[in-house]
Amino acid sequence: MSTRLTLRSPQVVAHRGSSEAAPEHTLAAYQQAIRDGAGALECDVRLTSDGVLVCVHDRRVDRTSNGRGVVSALEYADLAELDFGSWHAGHGRTHEVGGDPQNGPEEPDWDRRSVLTLERLLRLVSDSPRRVDLAIETKHPTRYAGHVERALVELLDAYGLTDAGPDRPNVRVMSFSALGLRRMHALAPKIPTVLLLERLGSRYRNGTLPHRVRIAGPSITVLRRHPQYVERVRSWNGSVHVWTVNDPADIDLCLALGVDAVITDRPRFVLTRIGDSGLFAV
Ligand code: G3P
Ligand code: CA
Repeated sequence: MSTRLTLRSPQVVAHRGSSEAAPEHTLAAYQQAIRDGAGALECDVRLTSDGVLVCVHDRRVDRTSNGRGVVSALEYADLAELDFGSWHAGHGRTHEVGGDPQNGPEEPDWDRRSVLTLERLLRLVSDSPRRVDLAIETKHPTRYAGHVERALVELLDAYGLTDAGPDRPNVRVMSFSALGLRRMHALAPKIPTVLLLERLGSRYRNGTLPHRVRIAGPSITVLRRHPQYVERVRSWNGSVHVWTVNDPADIDLCLALGVDAVITDRPRFVLTRIGDSGLFAV
């Protein structure tokens, strides 16, 4: 048994769901992440032209669906017609109708193919038998700047998720846009925020963060180049959430540096690696 009781295991966050195993941002990817044991689910949100928050990473739907176009210019009904699963390896998975050939052809598994609304994801975490947190990334720039944050807070409020609690999902909001986070603070001061950093510019190099932001979200590339960054953030009482950590060497680096959360496409693999490291008390 490990004796390093002072260390806390990092939270394992499923990046776009268990997106190695299932198509990213589908309900199936998030259901898989919960089965995999992820402590939190990461998702990107965008607003459709009729004001629905959907979980889609790219500005356009072309890469992850059989459609074309810009999310913010499409209505939810347009997205609902698209197939967001077939591009992914293993897309052929279907569930059978009653197992009886007379019932006709297999039906596609819609949970692996349909566009996911943020609201459906909130229902999933709210109904989860164990607590699962949410790390929601607002994508910027967008033509709906400001509206995205307002719609997000409205929806979180409706689900009672603008306040943290030990037994319910804790929500945090992430963004590469410091302005986007400022808007979040103004609308929902209790929701923790994460400033995502693709590179470590001179502005944040000393470990400081914008006013009221307590969590730094560096890419794993930042951490490989600047491992001392974790300590610097800590010296200002900040926390560090790292993305996207999929490879054994990167997981080990995050463990050695004692980061607070690792965001990964393969939560089960990361959890196994953490368990095998023997660094944390069970
Ligand atoms: O979790 C942060 C990470 O998701 C940011 O990068 O491009 O995957 O949204 P991206
Ligand atoms: Ca993201």
